[in-house]
Amino acid sequence: MIKVSKISKVYKDKSSEQEVFKNLSINFDASTSYSIVGPSGSGKTTLLNLLSGLDNFDEGSLNVNGIELYNAGAEAKSKLRKALFGFAYQFHYLLENLTVFENCLASCFGHDNGAIKKILKELEIVHIKDKFPSNISGGEKQRASIARALAAKPKILILDEPTGNLDQSNSLIIQDFILNYAKKNKSLVIYATHDISFAERADKMLKISDKGLI
Ligand SMILES: Nc1ncnc2c1ncn2[C@@H]1O[C@H](COP(=O)(O)OP(=O)(O)OP(=O)(O)O)[C@@H](O)[C@H]1O
Ligand SMILES: [Mg+2]
Repeated sequence: MIKVSKISKVYKDKSSEQEVFKNLSINFDASTSYSIVGPSGSGKTTLLNLLSGLDNFDEGSLNVNGIELYNAGAEAKSKLRKALFGFAYQFHYLLENLTVFENCLASCFGHDNGAIKKILKELEIVHIKDKFPSNISGGEKQRASIARALAAKPKILILDEPTGNLDQSNSLIIQDFILNYAKKNKSLVIYATHDISFAERADKMLKISDKGLI
């Protein structure tokens, strides 16, 4: 579903250059979950951003469902993201003037209220569905942003530290939900995490090492 071939990524600014990936090659298949681990600053978030075209790479090829991202314009990449991707990031990016339920509605085209209620129930956040993001806890925001990512039933689900703000019991609920999602919806799920026991539950665990993946 995603083929990464010999890509390099260098962050450049006026005074410095930092190479994060060099000659990175990897394939991501549908219906499979992948975890990405590595020390802070090793490039997990950068990799997630490259895969959906949110960030650009310098060399190589990155193909998503037959579409090459190397030369793709901003509009084509945005269309691809809308059609295929769902995201939940470390910082929740919920829209502050919409309730949790409305945030979920806003992310999907079909506007299937029943499906959204089911997701909120499974993530145990039905009780906050009519609250605004400023009035819910950090862990609830995180679960709300995962619910929003799932509402559109994306074929590719990208999660950056999805359990970072959660206690053990809520973390396990989210982990089960995410891992089941890949199988149930035949979707590709890729998540970055510092939680090794969660990382080990993925079908494949990838470790960033030496500007590549092992
Ligand atoms: N926009 C940017 N401009 C310049 N350097 C950046 C930028 N974003 C990230 N970096 C650098 O690239 C490296 C990889 O960052 P990245 O955020 O991908 O790490 P990470 O593995 O997600 O870390 P963490 O576990 O702390 O979230 C870091 O050294 C970081 O300082
Ligand atoms: Mg990160």
